[in-house]
Amino acid sequence: MPFLGRLSAYYPVVPAGQGVPGGCEEATVGDEQGDARASDGRSRKSGSFTKTGTPEQIRLELRKTLAARDIGMASGLFYVPRVIEADPDAGRLELELMPGLRTLTDLTGSGDARVMPALDLLGKSLADVHRRLRLTPELTLPPPAGWEAQGEDRVFIHGDLTMNNVCWDEAAGRLVIVDWAAGPALGAPVTFASRYLDLVWLCAGVFWEPSWFRRPLYPAGAMCDQFLASYASGCSDFSTERFLRYDSDRVIVAAFHKWGRSRRARFAQWARRERWARWRRASPFLRPDQ
Ligand SMILES: Nc1ncnc2c1ncn2[C@@H]1O[C@H](COP(=O)(O)OP(=O)(O)O)[C@@H](O)[C@H]1O
Ligand SMILES: [Mg+2]
Repeated sequence: MPFLGRLSAYYPVVPAGQGVPGGCEEATVGDEQGDARASDGRSRKSGSFTKTGTPEQIRLELRKTLAARDIGMASGLFYVPRVIEADPDAGRLELELMPGLRTLTDLTGSGDARVMPALDLLGKSLADVHRRLRLTPELTLPPPAGWEAQGEDRVFIHGDLTMNNVCWDEAAGRLVIVDWAAGPALGAPVTFASRYLDLVWLCAGVFWEPSWFRRPLYPAGAMCDQFLASYASGCSDFSTERFLRYDSDRVIVAAFHKWGRSRRARFAQWARRERWARWRRASPFLRPDQ
């Protein structure tokens, strides 16, 4: 379904592995790390994608990555990069380098029709993650005070499910979910929260539109409908009413935490809220009776 034209010039495209804010780098064949791996027996060709952070962050990301990878392998719905080496004390996590990744942001920006099937697969994948992901008590981290007053529907979450952390692997034709850190925008690591946090986080991110001229250009609402319908088909606990009740405004504010209070940031936030509210009022999935 070719839903839009040439948008890549306007849409904020994040090429795989490039422009990554603080914390990851790619090791390519023949560089220092590649040589080191070759000397201890690993293939130099495979390369690695290295993430850095505090020992706590890396320990958490490692545990979640391993657990999520098992879930994806068992269901065959999605793929999580393999852990090549981890040294939490040194704040370092080396993952398998996947050169052909394109983020959902990238697919959307270039009008790639595969974004809809990818969102469909993502919905089912997330339902399975919410059903199966388990972490130990010391890694069971609820949201800070003030979030989720109701505290209902708590599951182990992805925590930063954005269009940049979900990718399509061109070479293998599969969905890849990365960045199993923990709610970086919430001001504290969060692993155990309402399922609606992941759902709202992803959907609100689809409406990421910093400039007025980009707004009408891609079917954000239809994309969210597709994702939610697919999640609901894989999760009998999903409730439209609870989705609508979840404090999405808080999520939108949190998602803008790096933007500051500039006029541009305020305008962007307002634009996102407007589109978001319009979709919630008119979505055929959320309001089937209209
Ligand atoms: N194993 C990988 N191989 C290649 N590219 C990757 C890999 N993991 C992530 N990426 C790409 O790099 C981007 C940033 O990685 P991510 O793990 O999300 O880091 P951050 O925590 O900085 O957001 C992702 O959006 C994805 O496009
Ligand atoms: Mg990321």
